[in-house]
Amino acid sequence: MPEDGALPARALEGAGERPLGFYLHVPYCATRCGYCDFNTYTASELRGAGGVLASRDNYAGQVAEEIRLARKVLGDDPRPVRTVFVGGGTPTMLAAGDLVRMLAAIRDEFGLADDAEVTTEANPESVDPAYLAELRAGGFNRISFGMQSARPHVLKVLDRNHTPGRPEACVAEARAAGFEHVNLDLIYGTPGESDDDWRASLDAAIGAGPDHVSAYALIVEEGTQLARRIRRGEVPMTDDDVHADRYLIADAAFEEAGFSWYEVSNWATSDAGRCLHNELYWRGADWWGAGPGAHSHVGGVRWWNVKHPGAYAAALGEGRSPGAGRELLSDEDRRVERILLELRLREGVELGLLKPAGRAAAERALADGLLDAEPYGAGRAVLTLRGRLLADAVVRDLVD
Ligand SMILES: C[S@@+](CC[C@H](N)C(=O)[O-])C[C@H]1O[C@@H](n2cnc3c(N)ncnc32)[C@H](O)[C@@H]1O
Ligand code: SF4
Repeated sequence: MPEDGALPARALEGAGERPLGFYLHVPYCATRCGYCDFNTYTASELRGAGGVLASRDNYAGQVAEEIRLARKVLGDDPRPVRTVFVGGGTPTMLAAGDLVRMLAAIRDEFGLADDAEVTTEANPESVDPAYLAELRAGGFNRISFGMQSARPHVLKVLDRNHTPGRPEACVAEARAAGFEHVNLDLIYGTPGESDDDWRASLDAAIGAGPDHVSAYALIVEEGTQLARRIRRGEVPMTDDDVHADRYLIADAAFEEAGFSWYEVSNWATSDAGRCLHNELYWRGADWWGAGPGAHSHVGGVRWWNVKHPGAYAAALGEGRSPGAGRELLSDEDRRVERILLELRLREGVELGLLKPAGRAAAERALADGLLDAEPYGAGRAVLTLRGRLLADAVVRDLVD
């Protein structure tokens, strides 16, 4: 990774035809949830090498600095930014004014498309109506709340402290503040969660009136508190069959409530409610990820920033790119990635991308009812409901 972050010329070839998005990472949380291994810290001040101080209070300024660096690296790239997604960590640990300032830096340097989608993630306990109003006035139009579950005993296993009903109330507050799009994140398959607990969480989420929901199977990440508790036998391991049952319960509940799946773990009430930013990732578009540990991709070049906020602050303070490493994707890498990501979408993936072994695997998946016959006839591999349950296995066979 060169010190100035310069990209090889080929990365910008044909850029005008691809949308450009920004991901802004906020690496701060009030407490660390036991299942989470995201790059996030609970201290508000962190020291990097050489004693450089990274503090929550000056974080927005550092991200703005990286956005100015992005402008230099992308040169006279004329594209206005189509999507901005502030994620974390917990972005709402920062003052609303800080999130607005980071967005303003993108607007100043690149310009925002008229219909730009501007999302922030939020923890339900860290926002109130005044905070939401400030974000809305500053240009945010989509918000994503981490709800996870409506059941206190499930939240307890996840180490989440939510006032009962708070995530649902957040949806109403966000709507009142003028947010057009509101998402709730749910997790299923937590040890101790029953089918009825999950149904109660789904009912609560749907009843709150979001236009988008994400539901993820709980992943036990190595090195987390949850993984240690499972190893010590304090909580049972998650179970794949239970995950499959919960997925079916979720899909039925969402479809009945007027949501349609558009990616294996994501449902929306209309096409306008889909998360365009995530679609940029899934369709291999260009995005710049700013912040410690953030990943970027522009025209087949992928790079990632130093992970620690102190090292990140130090690099930008010295006028260097915070990039830690990068890789140039080969045509074969990009073919495999397209299959991996596009197969998870409702539109599926072109059969023309498959090699003979992958094509034979697709025929078998079709015969097994994992791929939908109608789009298959029109040249696309699209997962059936049963195929979505086995998406990872189907993908593994199709990339051959
Ligand atoms: C950055 S968090 C969302 C914002 C905020 N930090 C919060 O948790 O409320 C992104 C989402 O990732 C999901 N997530 C994180 N770790 C997970 C894991 N181990 N298994 C499944 N989902 C996970 C959670 O649903 C979480 O809402
Ligand atoms: S799930 Fe969200 S709030 Fe919990 S530690 Fe991870 S990023 Fe922070």
